[in-house]
Amino acid sequence: MSEPLLQLLLANTDSYISGEEISRQLQISRTAVWKQINKLRSQGYEFDAIPRVGYRLKQKPDRLNTLMLLSQLKSSVMGQQIKLLESTPSTQIVAQQMAEQGAPEGTLIIAEEQTSGRGRMGRAFYSPSGKGIWMSLILKPQTSLQFTPQLTLLIAVALCRSLQRVVPISIGIKWPNDLLVGTKKISGILLESSAEDERVRYCIAGIGISVNLDLEDYPEQLRDVATSLKIESGAKVDRTAIITEFLAEFETLYVLYNEQGFAPIRTLWEALSISLHRPITINTLHGKVTGVAEQLDELGALWMIESATGERRKIFSGDVEFHR
Ligand code: BTN
Repeated sequence: MSEPLLQLLLANTDSYISGEEISRQLQISRTAVWKQINKLRSQGYEFDAIPRVGYRLKQKPDRLNTLMLLSQLKSSVMGQQIKLLESTPSTQIVAQQMAEQGAPEGTLIIAEEQTSGRGRMGRAFYSPSGKGIWMSLILKPQTSLQFTPQLTLLIAVALCRSLQRVVPISIGIKWPNDLLVGTKKISGILLESSAEDERVRYCIAGIGISVNLDLEDYPEQLRDVATSLKIESGAKVDRTAIITEFLAEFETLYVLYNEQGFAPIRTLWEALSISLHRPITINTLHGKVTGVAEQLDELGALWMIESATGERRKIFSGDVEFHR
């Protein structure tokens, strides 16, 4: 329990307090002090620590707040119900349970931290505390399962447009739904669906956005391939503004999609895509395909001209690799 330690540190923000003094005042061991300091660090608290002098609280974590989110909401369905969690294995699991219990369309589950965040193709998704947006949105589209890839592309468009509105950096969509700055990933989308006889019962749109991570927050193996809005813009970014902007943009495009179908979304996606008209290799479940992607088909698959054969092929799922 680090609450008494926190109170002590908050009462001493203009001076250093030694580990010995903390241990005396709270009547806990020095090891327990050190463990609690580390726990607070993992929750996003930042300290100045000077050996043999002590600790001083430098920064409190930036925490999301449901009332703040609701008061800034610009959407009328999306995000009207919000469940905010401090830590959970994956918001996808919570969202699925809530959808099964009848939660309405637009219900949003957000976690400050995910301990087993999941990505596409069974990969793990790194989701440290207080630094990103890890959220799942419950959707109930009146459609059949074959159309759900369109929804993923719609989410990528909404996310790309809303992020660029809040943070002035250039973001592109790598097919089908990774958001990249240059060659580094800044956001990923995972759409999971439940269906009955091909009819969609609900979809869970899982969205992960790396917002305020610094380079040292990433594990070594991610440093060359991932980035955050803070790293790219050079300034801390307001997570509430991103969430509310995304929900509003998504709602607008979702209404457009329901009224006019996929065609306008496809045009928007193609304009933001960085996967078209350049040599790429796609790693599919059936092997690699190398060529140039031309456009999306009407269901969201990618039309490619294979370079070895000149054959025109449709790719339904896979991972895009860019050629240098
Ligand atoms: C990917 O890039 O492969 C998709 C990543 C999706 C991550 C989000 S974070 C919120 C939601 N909960 C999860 O466990 N995954 C999604």
